[in-house]
Amino acid sequence: MGYKAKFRVWRGDAGKGELKDYTVEVNEGEVVLDVIHRLQATEAPDLAVRWNCKAGKCGSCSAEVNGRPRLMCMTRMSTFDEDETVTVTPMRTFPVIRDLVTDVSYNYQKAREVPSFDGGDVKPGEFRMQQVDVERSQEFRKCIECYLCNNTCHVIRDHEENKEHFAGPRFLMRVAELEMHPADVADRRQIAQEEFGLGFCNITKCCTEVCPEHIKITDNALIPMKERVVGRRYDPLVWLGSKIGIV
Ligand code: SF4
Ligand code: F3S
Ligand code: FES
Repeated sequence: MGYKAKFRVWRGDAGKGELKDYTVEVNEGEVVLDVIHRLQATEAPDLAVRWNCKAGKCGSCSAEVNGRPRLMCMTRMSTFDEDETVTVTPMRTFPVIRDLVTDVSYNYQKAREVPSFDGGDVKPGEFRMQQVDVERSQEFRKCIECYLCNNTCHVIRDHEENKEHFAGPRFLMRVAELEMHPADVADRRQIAQEEFGLGFCNITKCCTEVCPEHIKITDNALIPMKERVVGRRYDPLVWLGSKIGIV
């Protein structure tokens, strides 16, 4: 059975904006993105929204629904009471371009800064991976780059000044993936700490909570990476080596 829902949607651009109220039809089985599309088709034809797959796989439709970072296409209207006002705002951590569309180029910048896989002299086919190593990479590779984790992390959410020094959970996870890859010969522990800001992370796990792919970002990437960094710092041989300049 359809009903009329109360929606409050942030409208504006980089300069200024405000929440606007709408009453819009909702049909059975719909998700928040359907309702946003109906708004575009009726009362708000100029409403800007980014989306692509409507199947939770492209990572484009990230926003905040009633203050919670969500994919709009995966947020069912049936999770709200019919008389509840549903508030949709753009991701807070990234600059607004217009309405629900944010400029996520910070994330692409950080992606470019991660040194790529370094297989050393080993040729494809010359090494074997254990299943546990395959599965670890596969978990991290489920990422759809929705950036909800980076949007949520308190280190940058309200601290623009930290962005330069912090890659966010998504790209710390990428550094960890490469560091833990058995065929990657680069030592990424120092750059993780010093260039990508691993030390800023105090394992609050908010990134893990919002990940639509249910990747255990904190437990499987960030904490093991922190353990490796600590291992490097407090290993007496590494300490001695660093003093005489060989590690
Ligand atoms: Fe999105 Fe999860 Fe990837 Fe972060 S790790 S960008 S929350 S899919
Ligand atoms: Fe931020 Fe996730 Fe660490 S939310 S503080 S990167 S555990
Ligand atoms: Fe692709 Fe929502 S539209 S994840």
